[in-house]
Amino acid sequence: MTPPRKLHIKSYGCQMNVYDAQRMVDTLAPEGFVETASAEDADLVILNTCHIREKASEKVYSELGRLRLAKDEAARGGRTMQIAVAGCVAQAEGEEIVHRAPVVDVVVGPQSYHHLPELLKRAGREGRAIETEFPPEDKFGFLAQPRPEAIRSRGISAFVTVQEGCDKFCSFCVVPYTRGAEVSRPVAKIVDDVKRLADNGVRELTLIGQNVNAYHGEGPDGQSWPLGRLLAHLAEVPGIARLRYSTSHPRDVDDSLIAAHRDLPGLMPFVHLPVQSGSDRILAAMNRRHTADDYRRVIDRFRAARQDIAFSSDFIVGFPGETEQDFRATLALIAQIGYAAAYSFKYSARPGTPAAEIQETVSPGEMDQRLERLQELIDSQQSAFNKAAIGATVDVLFEREARKAGQIVGRTAYLQPAHVMASPDIIGKILPVRIDSLERYSLLGELVTPGVSRAPELSSMAPGA
Ligand code: 5AD
Ligand code: SF4
Repeated sequence: MTPPRKLHIKSYGCQMNVYDAQRMVDTLAPEGFVETASAEDADLVILNTCHIREKASEKVYSELGRLRLAKDEAARGGRTMQIAVAGCVAQAEGEEIVHRAPVVDVVVGPQSYHHLPELLKRAGREGRAIETEFPPEDKFGFLAQPRPEAIRSRGISAFVTVQEGCDKFCSFCVVPYTRGAEVSRPVAKIVDDVKRLADNGVRELTLIGQNVNAYHGEGPDGQSWPLGRLLAHLAEVPGIARLRYSTSHPRDVDDSLIAAHRDLPGLMPFVHLPVQSGSDRILAAMNRRHTADDYRRVIDRFRAARQDIAFSSDFIVGFPGETEQDFRATLALIAQIGYAAAYSFKYSARPGTPAAEIQETVSPGEMDQRLERLQELIDSQQSAFNKAAIGATVDVLFEREARKAGQIVGRTAYLQPAHVMASPDIIGKILPVRIDSLERYSLLGELVTPGVSRAPELSSMAPGA
């Protein structure tokens, strides 16, 4: 028997990449690869890259510089180290990567991870292998292909990809080019994955996709199912107590999704709904195809369906042409909506996107200032939101032992980490916790009924059940 080979994957960027990294581990396990925590002693290092902003892709090249030294060191010790670049930088830059960083053996785009074993062999024979093609025409091709989705237990909370790609073409964004057109997985395949996860102790699912609420997978009845219907179906899987989904586009919020929030107690009342800007002029230049008022109306529909719903968003400051007045419209929108959390970014021109052709008008100093002002407002909203939990009793799904001895950590409906002193057998359970205090972003509290477990099953809580 050949000794196991060591694999190190470093992921950047979004949840999709975290999920893809696991898929790569699963694909390579039958080849004898086992994961290792350090790149230096690995036989294969995969950088699972992100191309969304310039900073994210530049990080890859500095990491490749460090890996070149590690590869040389391994060669001196008589060991071969292979280096692969995966993810969206691989997809966007392809062969360019090996010109800039000849240390790279394999370049593989997100649609080709199931070919990794072959690509590594080819690189071993020929010195290099590059595969970044989108699968030809067959729209459902790469998601329906038999690829090793072997899902092992990964704790209490798991991600499941339900769709990939995006057809929205926001003018600043590389995703439609790096991840391709929107494709949804068939319902039956998702259900298979979810059942396996539930059997392995998973209690919370996050359905992921670049534009997850554009989901329109084929249902068992041969019809195209929207996300709301998929959520209602998954809520019936025994053991699954909580459902989430990310990331949504305001234009794709349909009545099925609103109904899911109204009808499914296990669908968490916390929605990531990026708006990017509060100025209609900038939203138009971004090709978002919605106005600030359209967005407000979508928020109102969610709130009407479920009162305790909270939102997070993404914002870009300094988009070309953004004036102080446009920026103030963004601040006004934030003030009006009131967010529990948000991510905010300085605009970064991405080659190949339409916005990269527009003359930039906001100086780096001005961008810094706008980012700071926006983050100050968001921080104050986030801390008010977290403070509001103090004194309240909230349901927490416990996930693992905390760093501090005797403490168990879980998450509230709003993904706030919550810590209690308790025995580890509460892991996997949803229990009411009285929140006493706040430490940075973490809530500290006490079990309301220590030792008494209460783990509601979604299927038994669903209306009509
Ligand atoms: N510049 C800055 N931020 C960007 N994002 C996407 N593309 C860019 C860009 N070119 C941000 C958006 C998106 C999040 C994932 O990254 O806010 O929602
Ligand atoms: Fe990018 Fe816009 Fe698609 Fe989101 S909706 S992935 S920002 S193109």
